[in-house]
Amino acid sequence: MAFQSSKNKRTLFNPYMNHQDIEALKEAIASSPDNLPLRLILAGKYLNFGMIEEADAEYQVVLDYDKDNIKAKEGLAEVYFRRGKYSAVIIIVEELISRQKVTERMLVICAKSLVREKSLEEAQEIYEKILDHNPDFEDKELDENLRMPSFDFDEGEDFEDEGDDPFGFGFERGPEDKDFFMEKPDISFKDVGGMESLKEEIDLKIIKPLENAELYAAYGKKIGGGILLYGPPGCGKTYIAKATAGQINANFIAVGISDILDMWIGRSEKNMGYIFDVARRNTPCVLFFDEVDALGASRSDMKNSSGRHVINQFLSELDGVSASNEGILIMGATNAPWHLDTAFRRPGRFDRILFVPPPDNLSKVKILEIIMKGKPMEKIDYKKIIEHTNHFSGADLKAMVDIAIEDKLRIVMKTGIPEPITTTDLIQAAKRHHASTREWFNTAKNYAVFANESGIYDEILKYIK
Ligand SMILES: Nc1ncnc2c1ncn2[C@@H]1O[C@H](COP(=O)(O)OP(=O)(O)OP(=O)(O)O)[C@@H](O)[C@H]1O
Ligand SMILES: [Mg+2]
Repeated sequence: MAFQSSKNKRTLFNPYMNHQDIEALKEAIASSPDNLPLRLILAGKYLNFGMIEEADAEYQVVLDYDKDNIKAKEGLAEVYFRRGKYSAVIIIVEELISRQKVTERMLVICAKSLVREKSLEEAQEIYEKILDHNPDFEDKELDENLRMPSFDFDEGEDFEDEGDDPFGFGFERGPEDKDFFMEKPDISFKDVGGMESLKEEIDLKIIKPLENAELYAAYGKKIGGGILLYGPPGCGKTYIAKATAGQINANFIAVGISDILDMWIGRSEKNMGYIFDVARRNTPCVLFFDEVDALGASRSDMKNSSGRHVINQFLSELDGVSASNEGILIMGATNAPWHLDTAFRRPGRFDRILFVPPPDNLSKVKILEIIMKGKPMEKIDYKKIIEHTNHFSGADLKAMVDIAIEDKLRIVMKTGIPEPITTTDLIQAAKRHHASTREWFNTAKNYAVFANESGIYDEILKYIK
């Protein structure tokens, strides 16, 4: 289609021409008064010109002929809306909803009417309907009133005053403090047993760029993006993220995604924005998102229309759209990377996906040495113990040691004679503990075999072999 002709432009934009249309329409209607489509067109034109009374009268006439005419009802709702007769708008739109004949526009004026009548809960319901149909819907009045119903986050204020809020989180304005947690970890890479290639990747990908920001800039290398760790439970994802923070003496902020997902529309995004805000005010820091797959799950679950918003918010925060992420290392962890939308893996986002396998034998020895440090024990034959720890995760090893210690305590309390922990104690404990990673591999195997696009799960296959 070419450009509009100048004549068309004039009919579109020249009100005078429209007034002529009105005259023509009136004449046509005079000669066929029961032509309802014509009357509806005329009423629409009245509305456009702000001739509310004329529009009202015309719609009423249509309804006199046809009391169920949907278009006339919609028109009347518009008329009432402009007159500020909000309860009438609500009644009409509710009827349209019950007849399943409702348009987005009708829902919008209904939600606005409810807001103006201060029926916020009902407005919220209608608003959710709108978002269900159109996740990208935006409207200033509705967004302001309904997207943050109770979480009042005042961006204009600074958060410097600390008071009984030692981290300067501004808890009283933010999500509850159980939702996330900031600390200065006292562990570093030396406390992480094995995982050498993982440490190397983390060093190269996020630590070096942070420490040598100027050098990277000089070579025009863009900094940013995060690391997503995945693997079976208890194998050290959270632990190594924490150690990363300790390694560079940075703050560690751990966020469970399910904690920030909120049933209130708009609250999840606010929580998300707030956390990035806290991170930006506490650089350098490692911002660690646990259970990232919880986001993926809400995206496919279209019943939860706010899911999309929070994902988009998360992605744009990752991208540093509204504010720089300088000094923030972003890490994520998941047991179910296959639930994650590919949008997460674009450059600048989680562009490194790293498998955190169960510890190999060397790592197991190191992990055990770390766990056993400072405990009363004989000289321990770690190599012998780990023969009994097939499929054990780091967490399993910890559980094994706990079992051994409990057993020992029970004996010591009976005899009253302190005794060190022995190799045999640990082996007995290992036999009683059930390895926890096997189940995960059963699931993971299917994805690695059948849904291994661009080979992202090759590591799993390699490991299984
Ligand atoms: N490489 C390791 N070196 C030392 N300790 C380890 C190592 N791996 C795991 N651990 C121990 O195991 C515990 C559990 O690990 P962590 O909580 O990091 O697992 P995870 O992979 O995050 O598990 P989940 O998927 O359940 O969140 C850690 O607190 C740590 O004590
Ligand atoms: Mg974890």
